[in-house]
Amino acid sequence: MTIVPLALPQYHYDIVIEPDCLPHLGGALRERGLGKKSPKVLLVSHPFLLHHYGSKLVDSLTGAGFVVSTLSLPPGERFKTANSVQKIYDAAQAHHLERSSLMIALGGGVIGDMTGFAAATWLRGIDFVQVPTSLLSMVDASIGGKTGINHPKGKNLIGAFHQPRLVWIDPLVLQTLPGREFRAAMAEVIKYGVIWDAELFKLLEGTRRLDQLRYIAPETLQEILTRCAQAKATIVMEDEKEKGRRALLNFGHTIGHGIETASRYKINHGEAVAIGMVLASQIAQRMGLWTEDCHDRLLNLVHKAQLPTAIPPSVPMDAICQALGSDKKIEGGKLRFILPTQIGQATIVDDISPDLVKEILTIGYTKN
Ligand SMILES: NC(=O)c1ccc[n+]([C@@H]2O[C@H](COP(=O)([O-])OP(=O)(O)OC[C@H]3O[C@@H](n4cnc5c(N)ncnc54)[C@H](O)[C@@H]3O)[C@@H](O)[C@H]2O)c1
Ligand SMILES: [Zn+2]
Repeated sequence: MTIVPLALPQYHYDIVIEPDCLPHLGGALRERGLGKKSPKVLLVSHPFLLHHYGSKLVDSLTGAGFVVSTLSLPPGERFKTANSVQKIYDAAQAHHLERSSLMIALGGGVIGDMTGFAAATWLRGIDFVQVPTSLLSMVDASIGGKTGINHPKGKNLIGAFHQPRLVWIDPLVLQTLPGREFRAAMAEVIKYGVIWDAELFKLLEGTRRLDQLRYIAPETLQEILTRCAQAKATIVMEDEKEKGRRALLNFGHTIGHGIETASRYKINHGEAVAIGMVLASQIAQRMGLWTEDCHDRLLNLVHKAQLPTAIPPSVPMDAICQALGSDKKIEGGKLRFILPTQIGQATIVDDISPDLVKEILTIGYTKN
């Protein structure tokens, strides 16, 4: 069992990573004094995940004396809405969740963000626990307390900071995760290697293939998850509310978001981030911050994860530029980029000229 602690002035919680830990969640909550005053728990998930993993969790929770009700929401980003959160409130109301009751999110980033937001706002804030089931939520979304939902006009426009009381990661559940989701999340794993953890980068370099779970040895997976959780936790501890260094996590995301939006989400988040990292790496190289050798090493990892490294011709450049223009990351006409400086380190640069970005986008369509 690996425990990564996350300590903030007002909160302290553990990120626990352990194969087959689902049946032990109830005991772990009790050990941490959760549910002492109220045994009521609302478990929020998707039908598929409840079918496969729900009973393990429910048995464990009831065995530890909790009274569990479940809510199953349809999967998909398009359901990350106020309407779904309303359903969580309705369930909370129907089951008389009290100020000291608990919500548990069993799912990927969508379930985690929505359940966290419902917990942040129900009775002005109740405790919640993250049981992430996708690779992306294990390494990123479940850690750090950003919760929220989408507005019809934009992603994650509504939200709150609300830290979970525990993050409970069972790597075995990744066995049912679709391959495309796995690969997309690998982009974020590579990101941590570039911006934060050179050892993680080397570990990925030493792994034969990164495109499918079955090629990754269980102990390697454990170390990857641990290193990513440590990176995310450390960055959040330094800068909980994203006033400074937390922005490093946006490496690959400036252009990435532009491509994701311009493709009308046909290119998913991780795929777009992979291309965004390659292009940011080229900008860094152009500015003399980062070497060609480092760029090639990054390309090699992206290839090993079977992620794209070039912008598909079907995504028009003017649509990407337009999306970049409306992106939050623009500061006074110039673009904000996270640029790598060496393997394991990156810097925030606020004054990248739109001309340089256009130039890099133009060559970004060429295969590499
Ligand atoms: N809060 C944060 O800090 C943060 C950070 C990054 C991303 N996010 C958010 O996370 C969301 C993306 O998360 P995601 O990629 O996990 O998407 P997701 O939650 O939609 O999950 C992807 C798909 O995989 C399925 N799935 C999840 N785990 C599974 C498993 N073990 N077996 C089979 N199927 C499984 C889900 O049902 C879904 O269909 C976005 O909404 C994004 O905004 C939040
Ligand atoms: Zn991301």
